[in-house]
Amino acid sequence: MKRDLTSLVGLNSKEIDRLFRVTARLKRERKEGREGRYLTGKILGMIFRKSSTRTRISFEAGMIQLGGSSLFLDVGKLQMDRGESVSDTARVLSSYIDGLAIRTYDQSEVEELSRHATIPIINALTDQYHPCQILTAMFTLWEKRGRVSGLKVAYIGDGNNVAQSWLLGAAIMGIDLTVATPAGYEPESSVVRSARGIATISGAKIELMQDPVQAVAGADVLYTDTWISMGQDDESDIRRAAFQGYRIDSDLLEHANREALVMHCLPAHRGEEITSEVMDGPQSAIWDEAENRLHVQKSLLIWLMGDDGIYSAL
Ligand code: CP
Ligand code: NVA
Repeated sequence: MKRDLTSLVGLNSKEIDRLFRVTARLKRERKEGREGRYLTGKILGMIFRKSSTRTRISFEAGMIQLGGSSLFLDVGKLQMDRGESVSDTARVLSSYIDGLAIRTYDQSEVEELSRHATIPIINALTDQYHPCQILTAMFTLWEKRGRVSGLKVAYIGDGNNVAQSWLLGAAIMGIDLTVATPAGYEPESSVVRSARGIATISGAKIELMQDPVQAVAGADVLYTDTWISMGQDDESDIRRAAFQGYRIDSDLLEHANREALVMHCLPAHRGEEITSEVMDGPQSAIWDEAENRLHVQKSLLIWLMGDDGIYSAL
């Protein structure tokens, strides 16, 4: 049966651990110049309704490195934008390509593609979720700390797509997550409820609060993202005012554990949600996380699109 990555819901910790182990192997093979062409002849289609540097380029590069190729499908030139239905598009594309990554606004578009396509559908970011990012954030922690379960992560800022994927990822993997947002910018309550439901299995603690200083006390990781996500440019001024005090700077970092790591999905707005001093400082794992998008997504692509047995043989 085909698998999709529409969100992290439905993934379990064993599957994610396996994804991490394959990722580590692919990364090592690449560094040693002996990487396998595990997706020879496969084609990944990509639809991006929003801008991207990391996601798009790492998927494209990853496909080439694995011996396959990718097709960037310009939405403005697809019949979809002239009214062809998502279901008909899904059906037709399924007969040409082997997988489809989509970055869009509504999560429902990704879910609809997934229902109608017979090929794997990958969520490359929606207003609600960014699963590839959080798989990568957790892999980066796994690589640096040797485990993820039991770590304490403090997410500071907007309760957006990245925060919401963190809620699910932490709940699955047994990470204690505290999300500190200003009032009115909390993650959706339905996502918090799902995360808390999943957390009953892993034992993860999921907390929401408003005080960033309290949130980072005892934290092993501080995470943030832009205050103004794609599609929210009209709210820039209001948001900038609301998020003052939710910046990761060296003062806030002082309140976390001594060797706490700082992470950010990028793109960053230096001086807004994070200072340059912290981004470029010794505790920053931001650049490793950015690089790891490539390795994690390659592992994901092999899992979802590889011929039978290839992924389990790795
Ligand atoms: N972090 C991330 O998804 O970056 P892009 O928007 O550049 O893809
Ligand atoms: N929350 C940000 C993430 C960008 C990768 C956005 O949606 O714009």
